[in-house]
Amino acid sequence: MTMDAAADLLQVANRVAVLTGAGISAESGIPTFRDALSGLWASYDPEELATPAAFRRNPQLVWDWYAERRAKVAEARPNQGHFALVEIERRVPEFTLLTQNVDGLHREAGSRHVVELHGNIRRVRCSDEGIVVERWVEGEERPPRCPRCSGFLRPDVVWFGEDLPEGALEAAGRSAEECDLFLSVGTSNLVVPAASLPWQAHRHGAPVIVINTTVEGQHSGPGIHHLVGKAGEVLPALVRAAWPTDRTAW
Ligand code: OAD
Repeated sequence: MTMDAAADLLQVANRVAVLTGAGISAESGIPTFRDALSGLWASYDPEELATPAAFRRNPQLVWDWYAERRAKVAEARPNQGHFALVEIERRVPEFTLLTQNVDGLHREAGSRHVVELHGNIRRVRCSDEGIVVERWVEGEERPPRCPRCSGFLRPDVVWFGEDLPEGALEAAGRSAEECDLFLSVGTSNLVVPAASLPWQAHRHGAPVIVINTTVEGQHSGPGIHHLVGKAGEVLPALVRAAWPTDRTAW
């Protein structure tokens, strides 16, 4: 699809839902989930690290992997792709941002209506009681212990095989079904249930625009359109094309 055709859809949309994945944070220096397994971690696959079973088997290994990701996230800043989504939210009547990312960069950029489908890596919770723990010591003993019950602490993210946070999937499904335009940005669309959201929107008649560096493995068919390129370039270009004369705060 051309940028102008995509801009036409965006300009007239009243309810926009957006699903983002690791690709939108790649330009902020956070390796995508599947690229993250390099260096020390090259011999593991995500299934070995991001599961409750992996944590039971080797809690220190899983804690250390997330600690490294958390440090990367702490240094990262939102990029032009994140900011472009803030601009879209400012301009359309109803907007929901559904993200699989756990880095918190959408909120940091200024997006307001965000549903974090897979939790947030900046938070930590007790693996026994589930309570979120604000402060913990990164020391010799890893994972650190819950100050209340001494259970292991774990990242407050969704692992493979775990349920999404309460209410998140329902809210996401509603936005997908009620939107009149759906954008899928920087996701491999491999992990359900999030991967089913573009289909849900499509089934309810909304055009879907897929923004990704590749079309390989992406949804395709009538009503599904592609803008191929980096989210940090394509999204700002889309905003400029949809609202060429409106340059407020942008
Ligand atoms: P993936 O790492 O699976 O996919 C990243 C996608 O971003 C790929 O399709 C890339 O082609 C695309 N991409 C890379 N750089 C890009 C860029 N600059 N602009 C646009 N697209 C780009 O990440 P996710 O789809 O987010 O779940 O993965 C989904 C879930 O699988 C994650 O939330 C995580 C993971 O396993 C859990 O941990 C439960």
